Amino acid sequence: MVTYTHFGKQPDVLKHLVLCEVLQIEKPQIYVETNSACAIYTMTHTPEQEYGIYHFLNEANKDATLKNSLYYQLESECMANGNYLGSPALAMKVLNNDVKGCLFFDLEKGALDNIELFARTQAVTPPIRTLNCDSIDGVLKLLSSLPKSTFLHIDPYEIDKTNNNGHTYLDVLIGATKLGMKCLLWYGFMTINDKQVLNKYMSEKFNKVGIKDYTCAELIMNAIKKDTVVCNPGILGSGILATNLSQKSNSIIKDYSKKLVGIYKDALYQEFDGSLYHDTISKKQNIRIKRHL
Ligand SMILES: C[S@@+](CC[C@H](N)C(=O)[O-])C[C@H]1O[C@@H](n2cnc3c(N)ncnc32)[C@H](O)[C@@H]1O
Repeated sequence: MVTYTHFGKQPDVLKHLVLCEVLQIEKPQIYVETNSACAIYTMTHTPEQEYGIYHFLNEANKDATLKNSLYYQLESECMANGNYLGSPALAMKVLNNDVKGCLFFDLEKGALDNIELFARTQAVTPPIRTLNCDSIDGVLKLLSSLPKSTFLHIDPYEIDKTNNNGHTYLDVLIGATKLGMKCLLWYGFMTINDKQVLNKYMSEKFNKVGIKDYTCAELIMNAIKKDTVVCNPGILGSGILATNLSQKSNSIIKDYSKKLVGIYKDALYQEFDGSLYHDTISKKQNIRIKRHL
């Protein structure tokens, strides 16, 4: 059984919108995804999906940049048949066979079977390999054998939880970044307190290893609270952390997350304020929190 249930929710919109554009710009030789889940899902019009991909597709229609985005084009075609493409499918479709290979990690065999089946139904796909194991240790072990032109998509939600060997997904990002690889990491949080803990964890780790150059864009619901959860559209805040990307990709991450703030300005999630704000971690180790509720 596949347990990833957040497909098509609002945080997927930020993550997948950015992923498609950045992959097209960076043109990696190898794509590695640490937490792949499935390639394709059946949509069921839940309130969370309405607030997520359905809201995006309706509103992006009014914005030329968003309407021309790869994500809009790929998902609107697939959603017309009632399906949503997860990140493995989006990556395969964007990269086609311009990439030497894609490696997909997941603990769930069912998710990896879904990816392999999806790949077999496509006219053009890159060579793929699926790996059914813990991807923290799996990727850390693989790093030295990968070329610098590898793109690592790290998508765990929790980036500060240690595995049995004491490593975290932020350690994976740091290891790959130090080898010069392109990295995109996605994380989520439910309260401002959680966000502060994560921002501090990231800033301190980066300071310790001397990583100064990174891009961070967070999208947060204005309904978020300091330490309680009053509504749950999936996740109340999420962030993207990128290293070793081109200036063009870094600008896209910031610009597109701000564009999403624009198209969510009057949004509702059930009866709750569904509007969003944009934030980032300050590079001077001062954590900038725009709102405390
Ligand atoms: C956030 S979802 C991935 C969503 C997907 N990347 C997307 O954007 O469409 C999390 C996935 O990570 C997998 N996972 C959780 N812990 C893992 C681990 N230690 N190693 C590999 N996969 C893991 C879960 O089985 C789940 O399928």
